[in-house]
Amino acid sequence: MIIKEKIALVTGAGSGLGNDFASALLKEKAAAVCLVDIVENGDKIASDLQKEFPQSDVTFYHCDVTNHSLFQGAFEFVKKRYGHIDIVCNSAGVAAYDQELEASVRALRVNLEAVYYGTKLGMEYMDKEKARGGVIINIASTAAFYPTDSGMCYNASKAGCVSLTQSAGSRYNLERCGVRVNALCPSLVDTPMISSTPGLREMIAALPNGRHEFLSIKAVVQGFLQLVENAELFGVAMAITPWSGTSIIRNNQNYITFEM
Ligand SMILES: NC(=O)c1ccc[n+]([C@@H]2O[C@H](COP(=O)([O-])OP(=O)(O)OC[C@H]3O[C@@H](n4cnc5c(N)ncnc54)[C@H](O)[C@@H]3O)[C@@H](O)[C@H]2O)c1
Repeated sequence: MIIKEKIALVTGAGSGLGNDFASALLKEKAAAVCLVDIVENGDKIASDLQKEFPQSDVTFYHCDVTNHSLFQGAFEFVKKRYGHIDIVCNSAGVAAYDQELEASVRALRVNLEAVYYGTKLGMEYMDKEKARGGVIINIASTAAFYPTDSGMCYNASKAGCVSLTQSAGSRYNLERCGVRVNALCPSLVDTPMISSTPGLREMIAALPNGRHEFLSIKAVVQGFLQLVENAELFGVAMAITPWSGTSIIRNNQNYITFEM
């Protein structure tokens, strides 16, 4: 897909990677990007991006993506304003340790349940029978593949996100509705999620075998753009780490690996 002149909806775009993905789409001259988030200063975030990219339309839609009908409201808002949607990125996410019962269940809801809503809504609103087809990128994590001692729900939510993406992104579904669905699985990236989770930085510092190394935002954004643009990529998970570069995983097997 050529991003120029396309219409995008990005969840979690009030901060961190979601905001980087929104900027990257605007740099590629997307016609419009709607930032969907629960942050309170979303209008300011959107107006700052609008100043940076005056040729595009940047909007903010405040909603909790774990609420299906509120989330659907974001899709309706974009459809009403521009007529259609081309790109959906589900980046909203939260971290959690096993000791925190409520936060762990919340991680399952935001990182998996809401990604299901965003994927299903994306497939409905971009269905080629009613619209123009499109692409959905779900932000998972290498936590889907590497177990850690204290992140059962976070890791399960990300494994679920990969599995959900593989099913939604099947060849049959692509042929039926014209929507490619892919997952991006970065290893650790130094974003506000890391700083705002107490004890996480210390836990990361103690990880063995170079696993504490942060991935550059540039590498994550490059992977994201590749998943959006490359029409050959559907139903895949792209894993990116500083220690083994980038791999495309299809049907739970590596089928392309390239160095960073
Ligand atoms: N930072 C990392 O090391 C890392 C690594 C791999 C994957 N990821 C994933 O990347 C995605 C982005 O994470 P980040 O590091 O940029 O974190 P972040 O905390 O900077 O951004 C997450 C955003 O999601 C929003 N959000 C949370 N719950 C929401 C809800 N219910 N409804 C709407 N918005 C909500 C937050 O307000 C925030 O703006 C997440 O899915 C995360 O799991 C992060």
